[in-house]
Amino acid sequence: MLTVRAPATSANLGSGFDVFGVALGTPADVVRVERAPETRITVTGAGSQYIPEDPAQNTVGAVADALDAPAHIKIDKGIRPASGLGSSAASAAAAAVALNALYDRGLSRAELVPVAAEGEALVSGEAHADNVAPSLLGGFTVVTDDGVTQLDASIPVVACLPEMSVSTRDAREVVPDSAALEDVVDTVGNAATLTVGMTRDDPDLVGRGMEDAIVTPERTALIDGYDRVRDAALEAGATGVTVSGAGPGILAACHRPDQGAIAAAMIDAFDALGIESRAYQTRIG
Ligand code: HSE
Repeated sequence: MLTVRAPATSANLGSGFDVFGVALGTPADVVRVERAPETRITVTGAGSQYIPEDPAQNTVGAVADALDAPAHIKIDKGIRPASGLGSSAASAAAAAVALNALYDRGLSRAELVPVAAEGEALVSGEAHADNVAPSLLGGFTVVTDDGVTQLDASIPVVACLPEMSVSTRDAREVVPDSAALEDVVDTVGNAATLTVGMTRDDPDLVGRGMEDAIVTPERTALIDGYDRVRDAALEAGATGVTVSGAGPGILAACHRPDQGAIAAAMIDAFDALGIESRAYQTRIG
């Protein structure tokens, strides 16, 4: 039996829609694999009742197929599905690493990115790599049609997860088909600022660079209480706040000493609206 842990991730970071992704220290999924004549999947842990165990419908089944690596695969979910924290991607990434080792396929972490992305296609309808790439490679990743670039980075963040679900499919339907040049120019500037911030481990630049006027405003409408929670985080010292992935998770960048106060402010803001939430005080890395 081989065991692999893969971390939660946050994609987009506002200005980097479908391009940027980061690995978070917590939460994480744990996947255990052992060789078997045909693939069988069992799922336990957070939100496991919503995850199909049929290999034809599970991200991990697609990964086993892609690697021609049938196995008994046990997934222990630390990351709730439909959270915006790369739940399906973490399972796919962990399974890709584990099955690659179990069957001596010899693929590098970078070569496993498109393999794990096959699993994502099953969940969101498109093979996005912006969650699987950071889950496999760590740090800050930039995914384009030409490949993946990775940078080690260390930025404190709070990932606040309310008790509500937003499906990636629904969140993609509200993405506008086009944008004003002025907004595109602003977004490119913000994405560049964020990238410089990652190279310097600078939470102020990263937070400022999360601003996005194109996709994020459409998506925040799907998250009850988003504006109040964002404002509460900013008042408590967050350097920037955005939707994590497709939501409903909300990601706040910050300086380490402010992390506890920001987590408490976000939970309180949801609580005032009658919405339960939990906050992970973690870091990009
Ligand atoms: N970039 C994707 C989105 C992440 O925001 O829709 C989820 O796969």
